[in-house]
Amino acid sequence: METRIDKIKAQALQELDTAAGADDITALAVKYLGRKGVITQFLRNISTLPPLERPLAGKSANEVKQLLEDRFEAARARLLEEAAASAETVDVSLPGRPVAFGSLHPITQVTEEICDIFTRMGFDVVEGPEVETDRYNFEMLNIPKNHPARDMQDTFYVSDNVVLRTHTSPTQPRVMEQQRPPVRMIAPGKVYRCDSDLTHTPMFHQVEGLLVDKGVSFGDLKGTLTAFVHQMFDTETSVRFRPSFFPFTEPSAEVDIRCVICRGTGCRVCSQTGWLEILGSGMVHPAVLENVAYDTAEYTGFAFGMGVERIAMLKYRIDDIRKYFDNDLRFLRQF
Ligand code: FA5
Ligand code: MG
Repeated sequence: METRIDKIKAQALQELDTAAGADDITALAVKYLGRKGVITQFLRNISTLPPLERPLAGKSANEVKQLLEDRFEAARARLLEEAAASAETVDVSLPGRPVAFGSLHPITQVTEEICDIFTRMGFDVVEGPEVETDRYNFEMLNIPKNHPARDMQDTFYVSDNVVLRTHTSPTQPRVMEQQRPPVRMIAPGKVYRCDSDLTHTPMFHQVEGLLVDKGVSFGDLKGTLTAFVHQMFDTETSVRFRPSFFPFTEPSAEVDIRCVICRGTGCRVCSQTGWLEILGSGMVHPAVLENVAYDTAEYTGFAFGMGVERIAMLKYRIDDIRKYFDNDLRFLRQF
């Protein structure tokens, strides 16, 4: 009888070897271990054996039964593992997915370049809020309510006393309120005006500059801004200081650069003047210094606010400011 159970075992293991899937293994388990299975039958028939053979036959049959149970279980587990592994298979022959390279927007690049030049001259870089109170955008800058100067900048109002800042100049009183002179800062950022044409967009960027110390003169302002233009462009670039008016500076000047698009002969970008305005500037008005409790007998200062897009237009010879914000990749990839 021992040879019979050995044969059953060999047969079962051979069939397991050729089992192809989970269904085959289940069928084998039924065939050998099921209620009417081969081993079950064998165990049932042990009582018909001669008494002396029964213990050994029973022991061998139970061992084979245990062995088959373990093998079937192991085979099932292996199948599950293989299925999971094949689901993760990587097809190395497929072409790779291209990675799109991003780059800094030209306006960001020019802003960083402007900041670099002034940082080298010892200016600190600060930032202010884009949603600003009427107090900092206007009042602290000597532009009271109903003052005609408010018409110079078409304002987007958030509420009666809150605006989208129309310039970066509110960073001036914000910084001066926080520290005693000397002050030497620049403040880059977005500003908003209801304005749109070849050289104006409703959102644009400015870099504010402020220097307050003892004995600061208009000569310092001219020297600093001329040095800036010569580093930003080249030393051949013509700069022009034109008298102007801002409520927060006295005297005030706007600075123009020779139009590089037409080289000064006149075109639509420079409105046929040969010059393009890049910034407003002036000596900080005593009223602004008094608003932040600076001693005007001791301290004077200069300030400026430059248009980043205008500078970028001149640098890259772009004839329409709106191109910077159309987000046409063919345009942006050139920078
Ligand atoms: C001002 O905004 C003043 N805050 C500048 C200033 C600061 C003067 C400190 C004195 C002291 P203005 O409105 O001229 O000034 O704007 C400054 C610059 O921003 C302009 O020279 C121009 O280069 C740019 N700019 C103005 N409006 C627009 C616009 N809609 N789109 C693009 N650039 C603009
Ligand atoms: Mg202006």
